[in-house]
Amino acid sequence: MTTTWWSHALFYQVYPRSFRDSDGDGVGDLDGVTTKLDYLKALGVDAIWLNPVMVSPMADNGYDVADPRDVDPLFGGIEALDRLTDAAHRLGMKVTMDLVPNHTSSQHPWFQAALAASPGSDQRERYIFRDGSGPGGIHPPNNWVSIFGGPAWTRVVEADGNPGQWYLHLFDAEQPDLNWENPEVFDDLEKTLRFWLERGIDGFRIDVAHGMAKPPGLPDMEVIRAEVLLADMDDDPRFNNEGVHEIHRRIRSVFNDYPDAVAIGEVWVYDNEQFSRYVRDDELHLGFNFRLLRAKFDAVDIRGAIENSMTAAAMADAVPTWTLANHDVDREPTRYGGGPVGQARARAMALVMLALPGAVFIYNGEELGLPNVELPDEALRDPVWERSGHTRRGRDACRVPVPWEGDTPPFGFSDNTDTWLPLPREWAELTVEKQLDDPDSTLAFYRRAIELRHSRPEFSGAVIEWLESPADGLTFRVSGGAVYALNAGARSMVLPEGWSTASCRRTPPPGWCSTSASVRVCTQTRRQSRTFSARSQRHDGAHSARAYRRGEEQTRTLATARLAQHQGRVAATAVHRTKARVDAQPGGQRAHPHDLIRGDSAGVQLLCGVRLRQETHCGQREHTTHWDADAGIPRADGNHFLIQQ
Ligand code: NOJ
Repeated sequence: MTTTWWSHALFYQVYPRSFRDSDGDGVGDLDGVTTKLDYLKALGVDAIWLNPVMVSPMADNGYDVADPRDVDPLFGGIEALDRLTDAAHRLGMKVTMDLVPNHTSSQHPWFQAALAASPGSDQRERYIFRDGSGPGGIHPPNNWVSIFGGPAWTRVVEADGNPGQWYLHLFDAEQPDLNWENPEVFDDLEKTLRFWLERGIDGFRIDVAHGMAKPPGLPDMEVIRAEVLLADMDDDPRFNNEGVHEIHRRIRSVFNDYPDAVAIGEVWVYDNEQFSRYVRDDELHLGFNFRLLRAKFDAVDIRGAIENSMTAAAMADAVPTWTLANHDVDREPTRYGGGPVGQARARAMALVMLALPGAVFIYNGEELGLPNVELPDEALRDPVWERSGHTRRGRDACRVPVPWEGDTPPFGFSDNTDTWLPLPREWAELTVEKQLDDPDSTLAFYRRAIELRHSRPEFSGAVIEWLESPADGLTFRVSGGAVYALNAGARSMVLPEGWSTASCRRTPPPGWCSTSASVRVCTQTRRQSRTFSARSQRHDGAHSARAYRRGEEQTRTLATARLAQHQGRVAATAVHRTKARVDAQPGGQRAHPHDLIRGDSAGVQLLCGVRLRQETHCGQREHTTHWDADAGIPRADGNHFLIQQ
């Protein structure tokens, strides 16, 4: 496997309509993105992926391209893209774009020419036109359905005013499928690729990369689950046809002239062997593997998704990819159950993902823990809503603009209160501004996790090793270093053997026979923690705890999040959600709910969001650590942490 900048990169998906509006029209644009590059840099982003910004009537928010070699004025035109690319490059970030080779807009000059031309003409040969079936061709040529709902065929009116041929569109009727058997189609794509790569674009996310090629004779499909957006059917004749690999080989031959550029395919294919064929060394560099995104919050499912993704990549000696969200699917906090549980699970999954080897993709707003938004009918913009006859609400709920600052919508996204999708009032608590101020925020969590991913050598490795874990638990070691643990179940569970022992060996500090998070902190940051304890004068009721020394009570205030930054060195700290009560009896057994919340890269081991409960027999070396949660979260699931032993 060749290692390059994208092998371990953190990609950040910018949905340009929803990121930041710089010109007050209520729709995000490229200059808006440029104003927020420092934010992305501070988050730890290596590369931006921009959803389509090419010239488009926006029937599918840019996935209907009318001119693939120019930028739509809505987004600021091509100069705005140049400004963005230059500024990102100066900050050391790459810029990749969406490329849409399966279809064009119905407003593309080619399609307009095809409509004006007659059946059998060269112009029609660039698309998939067919005569209809049945008397007078009144029925579509086959039974394929559009991914957005309704038939995948639309009938045209010929020049003589009569109903004529049908054209294929796997998505909206405004997105006619190209005929990839026509050499002109690839020639034009090659021009597009070279145009942007010469201009400094660092690569492409290739839309519907398992589409393009169609099977000979266009056989009927099984219409089961057919209208599920990007469903999980590997045996669907609309996708994953053999001819697609030759197309990718040709695309790759262009990329080979730009060795630093990356081609990332959107590949909704689940069979490992089939998937692996897209990332062979003469096809795509990376393929989006959506198994983790599709996994339920269930230890077996999550492990299966990881193992399969790793296997599929390994079969072609390729780099694995990980993603939990994008502009087509429900946001994680909603998908995992909503409310505090959904949020806890989303964080847990983010940490799983960020611990895994390979390239990671996060979607704008994911780092803020944004949930889906329930939009009123009249606000819906996704063509899915109309095409499905108002039976499917589409994807707008996950595309609502990013809240930046302030207390009222649109929270600094735009100067215009009439934004293309409305932001909900409740997001006042989720703005970037608020979260930057809060060390417990999802944003702070992401920043720490990404920093750790970037700074520790094991995260640029390629290996994960599964460790024994209780049912509903998931534990793996990353390239011989950090260990990730997740409790995805509803009950607390005892940590795997090695873990308790390891922490016992280093816990407690000499002379201490205490328990609880205080000990745990000492375990991890022994020297700093002692210094810290000695210096900490802070006592604030809710955040206090007691430590015991040789069975005698001494009151100390333990770490708070703020003090965790002490001299920039103290890396782990404890926050007691409930006032800790400790039995003073030596040998007594205690249990406390705790949060161990932070780690840094300065030689420290803990990260984020675990709620631990330790039971200690004072005076004896018997420490049992439970993974638990009872601090405000009704179920224990969603507990997770990353630790180095
Ligand atoms: C997949 C894209 O992610 C989706 O948003 C789009 O609607 C379809 N492809 C059609 O281009």
